Amino acid sequence: MCGIVGYVGNRRVVPILLEGLRRLEYRGYDSAGLVYHLNNRLVRYRAKGKLANLEAVVDEHVGAASSTGLGHTRWATHGAPTEDNAHPHTDCSGDLVVVHNGILENYSALKAELQAKGHLFTSETDTEVLAHLIEDALTDDLVAAVREALSRVEGSYAVGVLWAGRPDLLVAARNQSPLVMGVTEDACFIASDIPALLPYTREVIFLDDRELVVLGKGEYTILQVDDGAKLVKPVTTIDWNAAMAEKAGYRHFMLKEIFEQPQAILNTISGRIIADTGVVDLPEIGLDHQALKAVERIALVACGTSWHAALVAKYWIEKWAGIPVEVDIASEFRYRHLLVNERVLTIAISQSGETADTLAGIRRATQLGSKVLTICNVVGSTMTREADGVLYTHAGPEIGVASTKAFTCQLTALFLLTLYLGQLRGTIDPATRRYLGGGLIDIAGVINAELPRLQEEIRDLIERYYDARDFLFVGRGLNFPIALEGALKLKEISYIHAEGYAAGELKHGPIALIDRDMPVVALVPKDSTYLKSVSNIEEIKARQGRLVLVGTAGDTHLTSLTEDVLYLPEVLEDLNPLLYTIPAQLLAYEIAHRRGCDVDQPRNLAKSVTVE
Ligand code: F6R
Repeated sequence: MCGIVGYVGNRRVVPILLEGLRRLEYRGYDSAGLVYHLNNRLVRYRAKGKLANLEAVVDEHVGAASSTGLGHTRWATHGAPTEDNAHPHTDCSGDLVVVHNGILENYSALKAELQAKGHLFTSETDTEVLAHLIEDALTDDLVAAVREALSRVEGSYAVGVLWAGRPDLLVAARNQSPLVMGVTEDACFIASDIPALLPYTREVIFLDDRELVVLGKGEYTILQVDDGAKLVKPVTTIDWNAAMAEKAGYRHFMLKEIFEQPQAILNTISGRIIADTGVVDLPEIGLDHQALKAVERIALVACGTSWHAALVAKYWIEKWAGIPVEVDIASEFRYRHLLVNERVLTIAISQSGETADTLAGIRRATQLGSKVLTICNVVGSTMTREADGVLYTHAGPEIGVASTKAFTCQLTALFLLTLYLGQLRGTIDPATRRYLGGGLIDIAGVINAELPRLQEEIRDLIERYYDARDFLFVGRGLNFPIALEGALKLKEISYIHAEGYAAGELKHGPIALIDRDMPVVALVPKDSTYLKSVSNIEEIKARQGRLVLVGTAGDTHLTSLTEDVLYLPEVLEDLNPLLYTIPAQLLAYEIAHRRGCDVDQPRNLAKSVTVE
């Protein structure tokens, strides 16, 4: 939800800002803009639409003598995606600029007040209020004026501010929107996310809520927004590198990330399970063993694809660790009457660790006395700092807006956690643990072996389906959440309407949709619910539904039901969700690509949803 980037140093700033924006574009692509200091003036460029439109007006010679600047890529909240609403926004004089990610909730009242004082506004955004508030408070102390302005606003912000009067300074601050600083010997950076910093530094400092930083060339001061007290914060070294956030020859990040899954899953498993025994060790989890043993209930909280991972985990944890599990969509969890207390373990699942609703959910759970574990991909993200314990997924940076490898790594981490809880509570015997652990270790190899063939078969298959108007996905048990995930992947990147259903639920309504134009993707491994699923498929066939079946190699019955069958090798029933996700992802990817959609940056979406 908007990306901001800033630099103060000795290098040419414009290429650094453009590279940073390129790496943050997944956060929003409604408009882009940048500003830099030159000869005691601020020079601003903005363009509606994708970053390419800004790049078309900012050539490599622009601002060659400048080494301080800010950039922004927008996901529109207040005001249409126009050039006037693009950041950076200025005060009346044009000598002060602001970039912002977040929502200033009391902006209307502040705007009216500032207009009454004679301030002239040129956009419909909430952000512009901040530029005028700072202008109003500014004499010659920029930091004091920014603090004063921030004391007036309510809501979320990660902001960067430049003033023509102090070409040596960049001021930034955060409250409820992510902001990370990068440091080198002679330069300082700010960014909404780590990938923007990776070409320059892996040494970062995560800012917390209501903290402000004053950046100079290789020096910085961190202060509390509220009382101006100085803070000393630790520098963290990130173990990602710049190449991990590149396409590496793939057509899209999403395709690269689909193919990275075997390695990413291995990274998530690495060092956490002993192959011969299936014993799981999660030393970094940070939660007391006795407390974990005594947990009476687990509340799983997440959004979107991460919520689908939670739905799978419910089946696993209840079956193997014997703990009752509730699964909530975070935007519901945060506002409903919660029966959560110190005997409940809350587990928040999030790729980014910044999703506003999930973050609010863990804050509520903490208030109610629950311990919070977060399963997260981004080291140092807000959720990982606020939770009592963290289990990292180690998927590496995920840039494609549609989540792929983060999901299968969440499943992997959740399966490890299931084994761990079962082991702690004595609900899994050693032989079963070895068997399940062995299956998990093998799954990456199985996916690796199947990926190229599946992609080829799916490319042929989608020629018959890519122009469909609607799709249904069905599955039972552990594969029901994968049906939901398949439908979500397809709709978000191809704009085809798609729904996922528990196969047994079709006849309670949705079967009315089936006709000869309705493709139905059914996930039917030879598992304990196989015969029931086949009956449901017969019901679809009897109503002329166009079936695409995904099932177990050697199951010839499937080819008697339809010519469109994708076969997968037999793996442990519990691990089918990891394997059956792969064709669902590839199907969505190939259809979206065939339809000419912008796979990595689908319309209206942004990767990290830091607003409610
Ligand atoms: C879909 C997708 C989203 C995210 C959701 C939660 O492909 O990526 O549904 O899963 O916005 O994001 P995180 O996991 O970062 O909390």
